[in-house]
Amino acid sequence: MKKFTFEEITNHLITQGFFYPGSEIYGGLANSWDYGPLGSLIKNNVKDLWIEHFVRQIPYNYLIDPAILMNPKVWEATGHVSNFSDPLIDCKNCNSRFRADKLIEDQLSDKYDVNKLSESDMNKIVNVEKQVVCPKCGSRNFTEIRKFHLMFKTFLGVLEDSKSTVYLRPETAQGIFVNFKNVLRTTRSKLPIGICDIGKAFRNEITPGNFIFRTREFEQMEIEFFIEPGEDKKWFKFYKKNCKSFVETLGLKDENIRFRDHEKEELAFYSLATTDIEYLFPFGWGELMGIACRTTYDLQRHQDYSKQDLTYYNQETNTRYLPSVIEPSFGLDRLILALLCDSYDVEDVKDDKRIVLHLNPRVAPYTVAILPLSNKLTEQANKKILKVLDRRLNYIVDTTGSIGKRYRRQDAIGTPLCVTYDFDSVNDKCVTVRNRDTMEQVRIKITKLNKYIQDFLFK
Ligand code: GAP
Repeated sequence: MKKFTFEEITNHLITQGFFYPGSEIYGGLANSWDYGPLGSLIKNNVKDLWIEHFVRQIPYNYLIDPAILMNPKVWEATGHVSNFSDPLIDCKNCNSRFRADKLIEDQLSDKYDVNKLSESDMNKIVNVEKQVVCPKCGSRNFTEIRKFHLMFKTFLGVLEDSKSTVYLRPETAQGIFVNFKNVLRTTRSKLPIGICDIGKAFRNEITPGNFIFRTREFEQMEIEFFIEPGEDKKWFKFYKKNCKSFVETLGLKDENIRFRDHEKEELAFYSLATTDIEYLFPFGWGELMGIACRTTYDLQRHQDYSKQDLTYYNQETNTRYLPSVIEPSFGLDRLILALLCDSYDVEDVKDDKRIVLHLNPRVAPYTVAILPLSNKLTEQANKKILKVLDRRLNYIVDTTGSIGKRYRRQDAIGTPLCVTYDFDSVNDKCVTVRNRDTMEQVRIKITKLNKYIQDFLFK
């Protein structure tokens, strides 16, 4: 398999308008990225496919859209206020700032499994045994490890004091837990019930980077699947299979994805099992998503802190209990990055090269490019073709340059089908449809175009 550098791929994505550096005209904002027209379309497509896979196709599941700002007690209950931090160290020589766990992972992964190290283990490795060097200046002189809190704080209303402090949510999941009873009641459901959401989350990461892989503002697609305690293993297995089939449906190559089961020492005390799906990015394996078996922990904590009854009453067995939870949690931006890296290719064609994104046609920004052969045909082509196309399809009309150049342009942004309207189309009422991957062309009646596209998309 051909390998491309991360820089080559990300340069292409920025040049084409998938992403722009955030606040660029003001000199940018470190590690913030805006989704451009193509990136935004991909994002919507992936969200739609996630909803199709996990909401429409699983009859127990419902979609909600909870608020980003929540009562701060939520984050006390979850432990985020006291525990959501990273181990921070500064190089005493050049003042660069790092995550101690990341430095150990990068430099000593053959010796230590960083997930099993406590803070004092890390301090010993870094500051007593001096095993780690500063990647910027080579010094081994670091400050003691300090806890760096990852939640962004802001204030509600006019007063900027501790009483009005609220947090930007660091995960979307808690909006689900606090609505468990609401959804159960209003949907008149029994267990199992899954509550799904898609939305922004914020973490003041110490070491953001790798483009949109680790950012401070990102989007998650999360599910909390509430079940009878004791059924955890069954449903954990179900979601493992289902999440893998989702990433395969999106088009990620099998050789580039793997599960990483968390070892016992890594698991939180309440968790029965956790596994990550990882993707082989050009910079190495990176976590795409996690599936966690969280037992009754979250509901128990919210019940204790809110003093509300969050138990479920099982009418058949006449028993009352807190449900267990399976949590599949996807990072949307990481998934998009993986799809773009996976589909990127540079191919030899005749005496030329083409950059092509072999994206799943349902993920690609545009399904169809309409290419009128001459400017004189543009109005007519638009009128005739748009009349038959499904209104839900994303399409682009490209009128400039030779047809060959236009094909290359569409290949570079992953458009799976190009439809050329030429002078013969006026009389024979046919168009030429060219396939991005095979580069084959077929001539079909305009009246059959929409069916052709639908068959192609849902084959
Ligand atoms: N509710 C569980 C939870 O939030 P997590 O492993 O911390 O678990 C889930 O996050 C997913 O969110 C990760 O697998 C990753 O894809 C994504 N994610 C986490 N932090 C991120 C960041 N700083 N930038 C981009 N994506 C991130």
